[in-house]
Amino acid sequence: MRYRTIGTTPDTRREVSVLALGAMLFGSQTDEETSFAVLDRYVEAGGTFIDTSDNYAFWADGGQGGQSEELLGRWRRSRGIGEEIVIATKLGARPLAPGTSYVDNAEGLSAKVIRESAERSRDRLGVAKLDLLYAHIEDQRVPLQETVEGFAELVSEGSVGLLGVSNHAIWRVERARALAAAAGLPGYEVLQYAHSHLRPRFDVPEGLFPDGSLGHAGPDLLSYLRAEPGLTLVAYSPLLKGAYTHPDRLPADFDHPGTPARLTVLREVAQETGATVNQVVLAWQIGAELPIVPLVGASSVAQLEESLAAVDLELTPEQRARLDAAH
Ligand SMILES: NC(=O)c1ccc[n+]([C@@H]2O[C@H](COP(=O)([O-])OP(=O)(O)OC[C@H]3O[C@@H](n4cnc5c(N)ncnc54)[C@H](OP(=O)(O)O)[C@@H]3O)[C@@H](O)[C@H]2O)c1
Repeated sequence: MRYRTIGTTPDTRREVSVLALGAMLFGSQTDEETSFAVLDRYVEAGGTFIDTSDNYAFWADGGQGGQSEELLGRWRRSRGIGEEIVIATKLGARPLAPGTSYVDNAEGLSAKVIRESAERSRDRLGVAKLDLLYAHIEDQRVPLQETVEGFAELVSEGSVGLLGVSNHAIWRVERARALAAAAGLPGYEVLQYAHSHLRPRFDVPEGLFPDGSLGHAGPDLLSYLRAEPGLTLVAYSPLLKGAYTHPDRLPADFDHPGTPARLTVLREVAQETGATVNQVVLAWQIGAELPIVPLVGASSVAQLEESLAAVDLELTPEQRARLDAAH
């Protein structure tokens, strides 16, 4: 395994493995035995960066989520896992009632929700301190100042180590960070967005985002990362939920001329290196100039093994240039 630093200040900095593991479906779609086996293998291989959320996976049973955090709590206790493993969680997108969704009934990002939901996540995970806590989705009803202060309070009290943000318009991330900086408060240092080698069209509206997807890392976000070298992009769904191996899973917003062009180069590089397309995608992200940590999902140990092997796949500068340029 290889490691990198997330966080920008001496107080918030943490070393994490260059490959993060998503626990979204653990405890719901993925049964406990398989989930524990994947988690054990990840840690055995040197993995130290696990991702969950207070709303995972509410859609699996029409509830409000929490199964993933609870499973991680049981796994931590049974394995004696301590501070060596960074467990990131999120709040803000938990449905307020069973049978509803974050699209129209999310808990949001008020100071009260931030305090109470973070405490419930600590209970489910069985930890005194959340290593990394993200704002999962935007809350346009609550003043940004209230959200910024709500998160910062938890850091100053010691119940959260590091702050992150996901699925927000970049102007909103910048505004929140500017408000925090002006007040001398800790701000978001880790940005979690969907990012893979294939790129979606950004002008396709979806439930939460009438102006087009804010969940995908687009040019604004990459430009922001370049300008703010302390930030880290945690790239969720880097394997496009299995679409590189099952093309029928590719969502409609990837149906444009750039997709076959990029797939062609991915396949060429896979052939040259003897690796799989999934591994080329992950190696391309891990070795990128910008600080990108791929956050993979796995529903079996075999899938995880394929992703772990990408950590040792070195692409040549020429292969990397071809992958960057394809469009
Ligand atoms: N911030 C957010 O809003 C957000 C949104 C989504 C996800 N996330 C986070 O990101 C994590 C990863 O998301 P993801 O599951 O979408 O990531 P992903 O890595 O793109 O997809 C993982 C899925 O791809 C398939 N897969 C993985 N390895 C494979 C292989 N070698 N061959 C064939 N198929 C393979 C599996 O699907 P099958 O099980 O169907 O085979 C697996 O569950 C989540 O657990 C969550 O923590 C965050």
